[in-house]
Amino acid sequence: MIRAELSRRAAILGSLAASMAVPAVARPSISNELAELPSLKETGRASGIAFGLSEPTYLFPANIGYYEQLCRECNYLAPGNEFNWANVKKTKDGRRYAKLDQIAAFARERDVKMIGHTLLWYHTIPKWLHELDSAGLLRAMDAYVSETVSRFRGMVARWDVVNEPIRVQDGAEGLRRSLFTDRLGADYIKQAFAFAKAADPQVSLCCNEFGFEYRKREDALKRAAFLKLLRRLRDDNVAIDCVGLQSHLDASLVLDLDGVAAFVGEIKSLGYKIAITELDVIDAKLDADEEARDRLVARHVDDYLGCVTAEVRPTTITCWGFTDGHTWLTMFHRRRDGRAMRPLPFDDQFNRKEMWSVIRRYLG
Ligand code: XIL
Repeated sequence: MIRAELSRRAAILGSLAASMAVPAVARPSISNELAELPSLKETGRASGIAFGLSEPTYLFPANIGYYEQLCRECNYLAPGNEFNWANVKKTKDGRRYAKLDQIAAFARERDVKMIGHTLLWYHTIPKWLHELDSAGLLRAMDAYVSETVSRFRGMVARWDVVNEPIRVQDGAEGLRRSLFTDRLGADYIKQAFAFAKAADPQVSLCCNEFGFEYRKREDALKRAAFLKLLRRLRDDNVAIDCVGLQSHLDASLVLDLDGVAAFVGEIKSLGYKIAITELDVIDAKLDADEEARDRLVARHVDDYLGCVTAEVRPTTITCWGFTDGHTWLTMFHRRRDGRAMRPLPFDDQFNRKEMWSVIRRYLG
């Protein structure tokens, strides 16, 4: 899976390089008006709701200008999947912090904090972990979490300590089965948060999930299972302060506004903060031209953020990508007309889109 992703990454790199080779030419449209406005970085700084962007790190530092531009637009940067366990400790005794150190220093010089995405994710488990027994796995988890969290103390604003712990089909509790649950049971979550808290008592610690937004039975079940987990973690006094809503939206689906509002309200009443952690919008099934799609995507984001923020003020709004020229969504979605998707707040020429303007309103 990871290998397949790496080759897809190579393809993405090619298209990113191509898109970055094109000089930024402003389009004579809405972008021009937006270009005059203060950046989301400034807006976020003023309002206290941070604006984040995620970007893979393959082109760092070769294409430094791209990251310069990115750091001008956001308060937080998630360095793709660079923090994942399988990346940092691909081998038992290895450690790959060099690029993270460089990026963290680069970001700090530009007044940008890092998002620590993500420590425990079933999808990025290093192979050598499978050989360990329960005690060995717990020791390895302690070592990796403690070392990584303390190394970036003061540079990381929030850790996504556990990513995607729910899979309704996997059992009565709705907890996703993985090496973690197989060896350590449901308590792996509690233990991971305890290690992270001990390593940096100040930093915000988050549990991150996807898939609750639409009028679908599976989304309703997922909300219920996630709430159940969050209640249990609250009862057990686990050191989680924030719940991350990934928010990979699809503009061709119907939002369950009541369901989302009740869900967010419940999370809030459990005492957790809320972060929007991976916002982007699939427009693969919208039968419309670019301009209309941009409008529909912006409206969809508006409806969603309107619903969430009516219940709670999020700590952060982070987009999973910077420009339309480079999105992970192409791994899973293609438009039938062969045209590029437009899921992000900036187009492939770095122009601000209507989605940018909607996010600005919610940051403000
Ligand atoms: C994605 C990255 O964007 C890709 O580059 C990578 O190959 C696969 O993972 N939810 C998450 C993110 O929490 O880590 C995922 O990121 C997107 C879905």
